[in-house]
Amino acid sequence: MHHETVVVVGASSGMGLAAARRSWLRGASVWMVARDPVRLRDAAAGIGNERVHACPADVASEAGRAHILAAVERIDHLVFTAADLVYKSSRELDESEVLRALRSKVVGPYLLAAAASAKMPAEGSITIVSGIAAERPIAGGSVTGMVNGAINAMVRGLALELAPIRVNAVSPGWVDTPFWKRVASDERRESLFAAMREKIPARRIATVEDVAQMIEVAMTNRGISGTTLYVDGGQRLV
Ligand SMILES: NC(=O)c1ccc[n+]([C@@H]2O[C@H](COP(=O)([O-])OP(=O)(O)OC[C@H]3O[C@@H](n4cnc5c(N)ncnc54)[C@H](OP(=O)(O)O)[C@@H]3O)[C@@H](O)[C@H]2O)c1
Repeated sequence: MHHETVVVVGASSGMGLAAARRSWLRGASVWMVARDPVRLRDAAAGIGNERVHACPADVASEAGRAHILAAVERIDHLVFTAADLVYKSSRELDESEVLRALRSKVVGPYLLAAAASAKMPAEGSITIVSGIAAERPIAGGSVTGMVNGAINAMVRGLALELAPIRVNAVSPGWVDTPFWKRVASDERRESLFAAMREKIPARRIATVEDVAQMIEVAMTNRGISGTTLYVDGGQRLV
């Protein structure tokens, strides 16, 4: 991975941060993208001084995508972990909330992947994180299921259209990341995780490293394209 350039959209937290760090440790130049510039710079500084660049941008907006494309000359691997989701019943959601989620995880990555492919070599790859809600939705999480299912389908079409660049999804089950701090109290999260740990075959909540390792597989294994790689501890089975 030496001298390769990896762009991670959603890199200031959770799985994206772990994927950025992992790529950096493998010798790549890493471009980290997220909206909040302060958190992004802190995250980048936490990885290293050289070969790491912070590029504050919103993948959901056309201006944000243009900014990313203007900043990076060549892209070997493009990774999406950004998500701006809403947890409410479909009866309570308005159109703008649904569209915001779709733009952050589906429409933004779709358009950026297509545009960025012009800067990518034949050996390049695009990896988009989807998630368990595509197969195991929870009430109040139908929008998350919608976007994750769209990603799993979209990578198959993109793998055909952007070939030979490989395009894949990585679908995690529940993973302990800062995301959970926004949707549940510490106590509630701990009890949900304890119940899930009991239930899933792996009997363990996945870590960001588990997911980052799978993202690396999608990036580096040149036999994989147009598929979804699951890191869910068997959660789809129960
Ligand atoms: N955690 C789980 O249990 C779980 C389970 C299944 C699937 N997933 C999926 O896995 C992915 C990563 O989740 P995570 O838990 O690691 O999330 P996280 O810790 O909340 O991090 C999300 C990152 O994306 C950035 N981001 C959000 N919206 C963005 C936008 N519009 N443009 C650019 N950057 C944006 C955030 O920074 P800013 O807010 O500053 O932009 C942050 O860096 C997501 O797609 C999530 O849906 C998570």
